[in-house]
Amino acid sequence: MSDRKSAAIVLAAGKGTRMKSALPKVLHRIGNRAMVGHVLDRVAEVGIEQVAVVVGARSEGVTDAVAPVPTVVQDPPLGTAHAILAAREFLHGFDGDVVVLFGDTPLLTADTIRHMLDIRRSPADPAAVVLGFRPADTAEYGRLITDTQGRLQAIVEHRDADEEVRRIGFCNAGIMAVDGRHLLSLLEAVGNDNAKGEYSLTDIVEIARSRGLDCAVTEVADPDEVMGVNSRAEMAVAEAVLQRRLRARAMAEGATLIDPDTVYFSHDTVLGRDVVVGPQVVFGPGVTVGDGVTIRAFCDIEGARISDRAVIGPFARLRPGARIGEEVSIGNFVEIKASSVEAGAKVNHLSYVGDSRVGARANIGAGTITCNYDGFSKSETDIGEGAFIGSNTALVAPVSIGPGAMVGAGSVIAKDVPADSLAVERSTQRVKAGWAEAFRVRRRARKKETRAAKPGSER
Ligand code: UD1
Ligand code: MG
Repeated sequence: MSDRKSAAIVLAAGKGTRMKSALPKVLHRIGNRAMVGHVLDRVAEVGIEQVAVVVGARSEGVTDAVAPVPTVVQDPPLGTAHAILAAREFLHGFDGDVVVLFGDTPLLTADTIRHMLDIRRSPADPAAVVLGFRPADTAEYGRLITDTQGRLQAIVEHRDADEEVRRIGFCNAGIMAVDGRHLLSLLEAVGNDNAKGEYSLTDIVEIARSRGLDCAVTEVADPDEVMGVNSRAEMAVAEAVLQRRLRARAMAEGATLIDPDTVYFSHDTVLGRDVVVGPQVVFGPGVTVGDGVTIRAFCDIEGARISDRAVIGPFARLRPGARIGEEVSIGNFVEIKASSVEAGAKVNHLSYVGDSRVGARANIGAGTITCNYDGFSKSETDIGEGAFIGSNTALVAPVSIGPGAMVGAGSVIAKDVPADSLAVERSTQRVKAGWAEAFRVRRRARKKETRAAKPGSER
């Protein structure tokens, strides 16, 4: 049965009132990716190509965010069964397996989805496979009623449960894999005669059983996976779980994290082998790091590509479009934006490099600033291979420094500098021999006179 097709429906029509936000709940981010994006990533990881997201009214933002994945609108939201029926057109004629996922449950893994599909396709051929878990506090969850052989008989929502059922610790995580040949007909039989007055997906279990179809349940390996996010506080917990996973993955793949708990990754951070990351480093989205790179403490890195054996930080900021070549050194209090710093170049202290190219082996002195913005538009700076820029230089873009050229410290360079030449732009230094000592003698004498005029003020 393994050649059966599968489809996924991601439910995201809930209002998410507890987030107290103008943004739809499923667009809030963990690991710098919208929660619904995490769910869609796992669906893609499993190889499910047919997927739709069910959204509520005024969810245009969600539709844009998940494109090209299609959305269907469920308005008003009358329950989880009703939500899937809103996607009826999408499922029309589909007889494979349908995985139902929640947009606010972003930590579910691809392995768990695969495992549920495997059970769905096992010889027992259950009409529905439900994911179970054992929460510390069962209060909000549907209870799983199983028979003596562990087969699922029904799911009873907490509100509809009597005392005996409420004592059951095995709960519904909400996620299901359902045989598409039965799904729509089961959903059509669901009513709303329950405490919440909703059409609940969970009812399909009892309906299937009444039709002589089996239903199965499997317990999730790690309960964190099925944690739903309803509030900012729960989102912070989900973020922490995700960060733990991303740290573990980075280390498993060959990176050293000196103090893992203080390193923050994005969902898409890619680290090479033998990367060393110091404490308090934050990776924003879109970062790729080559092999043997060292990122020292207190760096903030986003949208950057760092090549092999580069050394970054401490206290460096790499912004989107930073392309750092092999063996480049980027030091403390240096900011690089939309620039390529080519192999072996050094920008070691207190510099801003934006919209620039820094050629191979160039040396950018402390306090160098590329002045790329005139308040209206951005201009580019080009620094040739092996050029040497003296400390505290302002390079007023557009400007180019030829290969091998030198710029004297403290210069404001607004005109191009030819290859291998020296440019110095600063006023002539004046030296007055003995002036400082004469000054001190004069001032000491004056201070003495003032004190003598005001007795009592000895100090
Ligand atoms: C659901 C389960 C419950 C389970 C719990 C696990 C049902 C009826 N109950 O309850 O057994 O223990 O999850 O967290 O399924 N949604 C829609 N349209 C709707 C209603 C909901 O799209 O009309 C979406 C929500 O946005 C959410 C998901 O479906 O992503 C679950 O809905 P929610 O209201 O959170 O269900 P629970 O009451 O938590
Ligand atoms: Mg819920």
